[in-house]
Amino acid sequence: MHKYRIRGGTRIRGVLNVGGGKNAALPIIAALVLSEGESVIHNCPRIADIEVSIEILRHLGCRTDFAGNTLTVNVQGITATDIPDVLAKKMRSSILFMGALLGKCREVSICSPGGCNIGLRPIDLHLHGLSAMGAVIEDDGVTMHGKADTLKGAFIYLREASVGATENLMLAAVLAEGETTLTNAAREPEIVDFAKALNSMGAIVRGAGTSTIRITGVKKLHGTTHRIMPDRIVTGTYLMSAAITCGDLTLNHVNPSDVKAITANLLAMGCRIDEKPASLRLRAPRVPMAIPHLITEAHPGFPTDMQAPFVAALATAKGVSVIEERIFESRAAHAAELNKMGARITLASDERVFVINGRPRLHGAVVESGDLRGGAALILAGLGAEGETVVTDKGYVARGYDGLAENLRSVGGEIWLEQ
Ligand code: UD1
Repeated sequence: MHKYRIRGGTRIRGVLNVGGGKNAALPIIAALVLSEGESVIHNCPRIADIEVSIEILRHLGCRTDFAGNTLTVNVQGITATDIPDVLAKKMRSSILFMGALLGKCREVSICSPGGCNIGLRPIDLHLHGLSAMGAVIEDDGVTMHGKADTLKGAFIYLREASVGATENLMLAAVLAEGETTLTNAAREPEIVDFAKALNSMGAIVRGAGTSTIRITGVKKLHGTTHRIMPDRIVTGTYLMSAAITCGDLTLNHVNPSDVKAITANLLAMGCRIDEKPASLRLRAPRVPMAIPHLITEAHPGFPTDMQAPFVAALATAKGVSVIEERIFESRAAHAAELNKMGARITLASDERVFVINGRPRLHGAVVESGDLRGGAALILAGLGAEGETVVTDKGYVARGYDGLAENLRSVGGEIWLEQ
């Protein structure tokens, strides 16, 4: 159990560097299974989900070295096609090894993936797409066993623009025979970075970043050197830490054009934002303004991963805000915890709509995180609140943030991680 102890009320001021994106690094690491030889991945965040991915690579027979933020992986043949349950259960992205192993070895065994508890999170789109390419997947109630005598390109329409399904099908398609077309594909910037990494390994992927992605199968992928894009959600979280504490924070190593849906809403709250090609400065207003209606959507809409941090920030805005969660069914555990800190949040429509009645200040309390971004939201609320807040956390926050407490401390936050 991790415990974040926060003494609220100090301003976040200074400069921070943002590291590589978790959601870009995870599919890129899974893709290394498809390659042969050595790959060097720079700007890799040191977070729990990446450690799990590296353990999976090792189990599959790859040699790995993780020094600083550079991950070196050597692939000289894959020696296993199963993902141990203990690793698969630790994170949802373990499912990406299904597409990767089917692509490389035409065989895979994996149990249902774990991850944050934020709704049903089905994998039907992954399975339908892989079946359309010729894989036969049998579920014995514990483990899914996939086999593909031949893996063939296919035309696949995704009912939802799922990030994970788009990536899994790209992984299976790059070494399949012929051309695969994914329509209604996810358009997140992480998909673009992923396609860039695949292409640098010798894959032929076109259209990433649009809703139609075309992949022409090739026989082999070689090793590569790739730099992971900046983390959009870490960028947003640090910006919120300044917004919530009346602060003034500059972030370097960011990509401002990828976080427009976040900065546009910070502007609407009254923050001033200065943008340079790879940096952002946020100066917070004395009292942030409410946002009348904010909806989470697929990119380029407002990201669901920023919903909880915005709920926390809007708890002390002037006026009433409404946030509608449209991506996941149950991503609202933070609301009750924020209410323990004095927030006035009510949930409607099956807990998918947050009505936030802003008040001048929250107070410290002992609260518990229920998921990664919800945990970050409680930490943000603690930074802005009066008195001491303790956020107990079952390791969720460390799955997505590299050195969150140290980084915030370096810009004036009074926050300590006790383990
Ligand atoms: C990814 C991100 C996560 C982000 C989410 C939405 C990673 C590692 N995680 O998660 O941080 O919150 O995108 O931007 O990149 N769905 C189905 N069937 C499927 C797959 C998905 O119905 O087979 C639905 C989901 O229930 C959800 C929606 O599609 O309602 C979007 O989910 P998806 O984009 O797949 O999320 P993840 O890839 O799990």
